[in-house]
Amino acid sequence: MGSQQRGVTVWFTGLSGSGKSTIARALEEELRARDCQLEVLDGDIVRTNLTKGLGFSKEDRDENIRRIGFVSHLLTRNGVIVLVSAISPYQAVREEVRDRIEDFVEVYVSAPVEVCEERDVKGLYKKARAGEIKGFTGIDDPYEPPTHPEVDCRTHEETLTESVNKVLAKLEELGYIQ
Ligand code: PPS
Repeated sequence: MGSQQRGVTVWFTGLSGSGKSTIARALEEELRARDCQLEVLDGDIVRTNLTKGLGFSKEDRDENIRRIGFVSHLLTRNGVIVLVSAISPYQAVREEVRDRIEDFVEVYVSAPVEVCEERDVKGLYKKARAGEIKGFTGIDDPYEPPTHPEVDCRTHEETLTESVNKVLAKLEELGYIQ
């Protein structure tokens, strides 16, 4: 029996600690409760398998994003809702992925670097400031904000529920969920 669900890639981009994965996980729960078929591709986890061995140079980050984009495309065209969370700091490769995937919703998780650094969930900002990690996004590596994201989750000003509801509302508006 074929599924009636339309696939879509929901792509969360933003700094480390901005809340990408947290929103994606909460959204996952919400969508599972609605019996949606979905898959989560989290940068941190994908880097232990699909993109294992890649580092954080511009070339490696772009390769990471292209591979995630490739898998997202395959899943999306088969009716799956794909929740991607990856810093994806470069606009050009994000656009490349968007152009390839017909059904694509970009979510900018836009907490400013000061807030992410204050949270420092994994202690990586501290290490970056101490020079123990070089080329850390937002500290000594670039992050190019999206120019036309479908959703902007301002996690420094809104609750998790508000962020999740914004994404749900957009998916409803675009007809991906009821
Ligand atoms: S990217 O830029 O999209 O390829 O990055 P991504 O695959 O999302 O991986 C980001 C996670 O890797 C950890 N990490 C770093 N982030 C940024 N810059 C540097 N140099 C770096 N080194 C390690 C970090 O835990 C990121 O996880 P999140 O979940 O974003 O905090």
